[in-house]
Amino acid sequence: MAPISYRNAYVSIEKDVYEPAEDSFLLADVAVDRISDGMNVLEMGVGSGFVSAVIAANKNVEPIGCDINPDALECAYKNGIQVFRSNLFAGLTKKGYFDIILFNPPYLPTSEDEKVEGWLNYAFDGGVEGRDTIATFFAEVSGYLKPGGSVLLFISSLTGKREVFDIIKRERFSGYVVAETRSFFEKLMVIECKHNC
Ligand SMILES: C[S@@+](CC[C@H](N)C(=O)[O-])C[C@H]1O[C@@H](n2cnc3c(N)ncnc32)[C@H](O)[C@@H]1O
Repeated sequence: MAPISYRNAYVSIEKDVYEPAEDSFLLADVAVDRISDGMNVLEMGVGSGFVSAVIAANKNVEPIGCDINPDALECAYKNGIQVFRSNLFAGLTKKGYFDIILFNPPYLPTSEDEKVEGWLNYAFDGGVEGRDTIATFFAEVSGYLKPGGSVLLFISSLTGKREVFDIIKRERFSGYVVAETRSFFEKLMVIECKHNC
C-alpha cells in the first residue's frame, strides 16, 4: 500500500491495519486545531498511527497510541508513535493524566455475517447497533482525563447521533459536534466532550 503524506506527516500502512480514510482525516484536522504544544495526548485505537503522526508533525506533542490489534501497534510504532497494547483502558495506569483523549472507534453497526477475518474486524465492528465500543469507552474514559480535559470522538450518522449523545450524557459528559461533513450516504462528525465533574 502506498504511504500517505498529509500535513507534513508521512505514514506507511501495513496489512491487517485500518487504512486511513475520511474519518481519520477529519479527526486529525480537528485534533490539530484543538491541541496545544506540551499537552498529554492519548489516541485510543491508534491503527496505523496516522492521526497521531499528523498531530506530532504539527504540534510539539508526543501522542501515546493504544490499540488491541498487534499489527496496528507495530505499524504505528514504525510510523514513529509510542504505543502500548490494551483493550481500551484495561492496561493503562496513567489516571488523571491526559489533556485530550481521541478515538476514531469501530462505529459501524455489524451483524455476524458482516464481520471480517482477523484483527482488522476490530477496526469496523461496533456491535449490532454500532455503539458497543463507544459505550465501554465512555464508561471508563473520565478517570484518565485531567480535570477540564476533553475527549474528541469521531462518529458517523450510521452510529446513531442521538443514541451516542445519550451515552455521553449517561456518563456525565457534555458533548458538542465540532466538525461535520457529508460523505455519500452518511454524515461524518467529531464530537468534543467534557466531563461534568
Ligand atoms: C476505525 S479504526 C481507526 C484507526 C486510526 N485511529 C485512524 O483513524 O485511522 C479503529 C481502531 O480502534 C482499534 N480498536 C477497536 N476496539 C478496540 C479496543 N477494545 N481497544 C483498543 N483498540 C481498539 C482497532 O483495532 C482500530 O485500529
